Amino acid sequence: MSNRFVIILAAGQGTRMKSKLYKVLHPVCGKPMVEHVVDQMAHIGTTKIITVVGHGAEKVKEHLQGKSDFVLQKEQLGTAHAVLQTKDLLENEEGHTLVVCGDTPLVKSETIQALMKHHEKEKAVMTVLTAKTTQPTGYGRVIRNEKGYIEKIVEEKDASAEEKLVQEINAGTYCFDNKALFMALQKVSNNNAQGEYYLPDVLAILKNEGLNVTAFMTDDFSETLGVNDRVALAKAEEIMRSRINEYHMRNGVTIMDPKNTYIDMNVTIGQDTVIYPGTVIKGDTVIGVDCEIGPNSDISNCHIGNKTIIRQSVACDSQIGSSVQIGPFSHIRPEAYISDEVRIGNFVEIKKSTIGAKSKVSHLSYMGDAEIGSNVNVGCGSITVNYDGKNKFKTIIEDEAFIGCNSNLIAPVTVGKGAYVAAGSTITDDVPIQSLSIARARQVNKENYVEKLNKKRQ
Ligand code: UD1
Ligand code: MG
Repeated sequence: MSNRFVIILAAGQGTRMKSKLYKVLHPVCGKPMVEHVVDQMAHIGTTKIITVVGHGAEKVKEHLQGKSDFVLQKEQLGTAHAVLQTKDLLENEEGHTLVVCGDTPLVKSETIQALMKHHEKEKAVMTVLTAKTTQPTGYGRVIRNEKGYIEKIVEEKDASAEEKLVQEINAGTYCFDNKALFMALQKVSNNNAQGEYYLPDVLAILKNEGLNVTAFMTDDFSETLGVNDRVALAKAEEIMRSRINEYHMRNGVTIMDPKNTYIDMNVTIGQDTVIYPGTVIKGDTVIGVDCEIGPNSDISNCHIGNKTIIRQSVACDSQIGSSVQIGPFSHIRPEAYISDEVRIGNFVEIKKSTIGAKSKVSHLSYMGDAEIGSNVNVGCGSITVNYDGKNKFKTIIEDEAFIGCNSNLIAPVTVGKGAYVAAGSTITDDVPIQSLSIARARQVNKENYVEKLNKKRQ
C-alpha cells in the first residue's frame, strides 16, 4: 500500500452552533462528532491521521488521544489554511492524502474506500466526494461543464443565483495526491465573500495546471451531512440513531419502537433482549441476553447480566447481575453492585452499595453506603442513615437478616447474620447474629380514654 495520510479539520469554533462547547465535540449518539470521523478513518488503514485543532484544542486532543496526531491552527483563516498547517509533517511525502471535515459525523469508511478506488481508477490528483440534495443551502455547490466534468466548487456565499440552484454539493471530503495538494495550497487566495482560504479552491487551481480532477458522487446524501447548527445536529443524531438501532435489531435484539429508543454508539446488547419504548441507553453500557429494558428507562454506564428486567427506572455507573428485577421507579446510583436474582422494587434508591444474591429491597427504601449479604429482606420504608451532615458511614447487613418495615439503621452499624430488626426500629447499636432487635417505644393502650376525653370536653 502506498502512503495514506488523513487530515481531519477540527479547528473551527462553530459559531453557528451558538454553544460554549466547540462544534466538533458536540456528541452524536454519545460520541463527539470528530471522534466518529477519526474512528471511521481508522477502519480504512492509514499511515498517519493528523487532526488540525484550534478552538478548544486541548479538549479535542483529550478526546482523540492515542487515535490521532495533532497540529495547531492558531488563527482560523479557512479550510485551505487549516490543511496547510500540516505542511511540515507532510509536504515532502509521496502518497494519497484524504481530507475530511470534523463536522461530518455520518461519513462511512466504505464510502471513503469507494472514493479512493475511484481516485485511483481515474488516475486523478484530486477527487471530491459529492452528493445530490434538494436542500443544498449552506453547502459548496459543484459546478460541472457541459460535458459533465467538474469545473469548480462555489461556496454558498459566493454563488450566483443560478449556481445556488445546483443540487450537487461538496461533502467536504477529498482524496488528493499529496504533492499536488501542497503545490496547489500555496496558490489559494482569500479573495472571496468570507475573506477565507477555501480548500475547495484547490480544485480549480489543479485543473488550471492541466491536472486531472474528478468527483465521486455518493447516492446517500445523509452520509455527507455537515453539522453547522443544532438543526443539522438533530438530523445527524436521528440518522445515527436509526443506524445503531438497525445494527442491534440485525444482531437479534427486539426494539419495540426504534424511533423512540435512544442507544449510544458504544452500547452492547445481547440476543433476545427486548428494549421497550422511551428507553435511553448511554455510555459504555453492556446488557446481556434475554433481558427486558423499559419502557421509559434511563441506563448509563451499567454492566447488566442476562435475564434481568428493568422497568421505568434510572440506573448509572453500576453493575447489575443476572435474573435481577428492578423497578418500576427504582433509582440505581453510582457504584451499586447488585448480585444475581436480587429484587429492587418501586421507589427504592440504591447508592454505593453491594447487594448479595437473592436479597430483596422491594419498596420505598434508601440503601446507601451499605454492604448487604445474600437472602436479606429489607422491609418497606427502611433507611440506612449514612450521613451526619459531614461524613458518610457504612451499614452492614449480613446474610439472611430480616429488616422490618420502616426501620432506620443509623450507621456505622452492623446487623448480624440471620438477625431480625423489628418494624419501626431505630437501630443505633450492632445487632448480634440470630437476635431480634426492637428499638421503639412500647405501645400503651389507654382503654375507654376517648369516652373520658369527650366527657371532659362537654
Ligand atoms: C465546508 C466547505 C463546503 C462544503 C461543506 C461540507 C469550505 C470553504 N467549504 O463548508 O464547500 O460543502 O464544508 O460540510 O471548505 N475548519 C478549520 N479551520 C478553519 C476553518 C474550518 O479547521 O480555519 C474546520 C471546521 O472546524 C470544520 C471544517 O473545517 O470541522 C469545515 O468548516 P466549516 O466552517 O464547517 O465549513 P462549511 O461552511 O461547512
Ligand atoms: Mg461545516
